[in-house]
Amino acid sequence: MPIALKTEGLSKVYRHATGKPTTALHPLDLEVGVGEHLAVIGPNGSGKTTLLGLTVGLLVPTSGTVHIFGRSSREASARARIGYVPEDPVLQPRMRVNELLEVCGRLSGLSAADTRDRAGDLLDRFELTPWAGSPLGELSRGMRQAVAMVQALLHRPGLLLLDEPLTGVDPDARTRLIGILGETRQAHTAMVVTTHWPEAFGTLFDRVVTLRRGRLMAEA
Ligand SMILES: Nc1ncnc2c1ncn2[C@@H]1O[C@H](COP(=O)(O)OP(=O)(O)OP(=O)(O)O)[C@@H](O)[C@H]1O
Ligand SMILES: [Mg+2]
Repeated sequence: MPIALKTEGLSKVYRHATGKPTTALHPLDLEVGVGEHLAVIGPNGSGKTTLLGLTVGLLVPTSGTVHIFGRSSREASARARIGYVPEDPVLQPRMRVNELLEVCGRLSGLSAADTRDRAGDLLDRFELTPWAGSPLGELSRGMRQAVAMVQALLHRPGLLLLDEPLTGVDPDARTRLIGILGETRQAHTAMVVTTHWPEAFGTLFDRVVTLRRGRLMAEA
């Protein structure tokens, strides 16, 4: 099976100014196939967010490597294939939704016309069209989460990393989001989703793995 994400010996030790260091992730080997949908579960503090942060390159690993579609995640071309929605997306409050998407499209190398088409389509799917001209600071938390999702999908990433994407999302929006994520299967989008509630995603996941104190448990 071709590989979308491969970690080898990937670990993270957080060093604090005071107190003893925290090993958030012990050396981890993980493979996610092209188009595979993986859920990562585990108690609070088990290392789920750390794993996504290392994968996307926001955190520097203590050891190990990350490869995205066979390329080191240190290369910009590898990271460009990732779509990422953090636990608590931070968006510029004064920027308007359509301005944000325009900038994201440009940064991803999309033409203005493609950006407009794709953004229009995604905003529609997420029922955000009436808010396209609104400043991000005037949106509710759930709506901002949906905008972050649109932003992550705009460049049609091959690997989608979602950190607890259902938190604070109302039931209709959940159903919508899960439907949209399911459709990415046609484009063979791989996915790593952290969650405390994999059942809520229906049949979205091909595989569920558990982290406990920074270690991967044996798969059931
Ligand atoms: N920036 C940081 N500095 C120091 N320690 C951190 C930092 N971020 C996380 N940690 C520690 O690393 C461990 C793993 O945290 P992480 O956020 O990855 O867990 P998580 O599985 O995502 O938890 P949750 O389910 O609460 O989101 C915890 O012990 C946490 O205290
Ligand atoms: Mg977390």
